[in-house]
Amino acid sequence: MHSRMVIAIDGFSSCGKSTVAKAIAKRLGIKYIDSGAMYRAVTLYFMRNDVPIPDPEELVDFPFDFIPVLNNIQITFQVNPETGLSEVYLNGENVEHSIRTMEINERVSHVSAIKSVRKKMVELQQQEGVQGGLVMDGRDIGTTVFPHADLKIFMKADPMIRAERRYKELLAKGVDISMEDVISNVVGRDYEDSHREESPLRKADDAIVLDNTHLNQAEQVDFVVKEIEKLKVGC
Ligand code: DC
Repeated sequence: MHSRMVIAIDGFSSCGKSTVAKAIAKRLGIKYIDSGAMYRAVTLYFMRNDVPIPDPEELVDFPFDFIPVLNNIQITFQVNPETGLSEVYLNGENVEHSIRTMEINERVSHVSAIKSVRKKMVELQQQEGVQGGLVMDGRDIGTTVFPHADLKIFMKADPMIRAERRYKELLAKGVDISMEDVISNVVGRDYEDSHREESPLRKADDAIVLDNTHLNQAEQVDFVVKEIEKLKVGC
């Protein structure tokens, strides 16, 4: 049963969704897709090609047709044989590292609020789930992409704890940034992701909340595994 299961993990930024999602996918031997990486790859394409990125208040009637641009963008995933994890490719280029910068962090919420961008990404994400056997994390996976997912988890954590985790991650990567800038990015993205017009971040009614403010990674994975076990008993 597990091999066909679709698991949706949504939640706020820097909650550790991808760490939990990867561990669960590995445990079940199913595919993991990071939907945020897709929006990040589109943002990278826009920045490299000087595509205008509207502020949220400019979105209505923004005088630019994004569809021809989107038609030039191909996003695919390939498993890295060394890590066993899927990595994102933009028009054939592995962009797994180039999409995780502060420049992308600052613009990705604006790009992901564009209706035509969301439409294209949701279609691609749904194709990934056609065969089942998938863990996908993001903001609207349980509400829009896979409303009939077998299991929906909604992750949250205290914003200061999330900012601290992200700050340490960026420092470890050698990024020169202040804690204040990280806090403002985390809080700003929370706001934009939850208040946009198109499929905003919200908990699906049937999602199970995982607040990981005081949980380590193993405890979070255990929490989700227990929920999966409950499904097995139920079938
Ligand atoms: O999970 P992440 O931080 O890598 O996601 C980057 C951005 O992409 C996030 O700020 C909002 C957007 N996103 C989205 O709108 N819908 C998703 N399913 C996943 C991400």
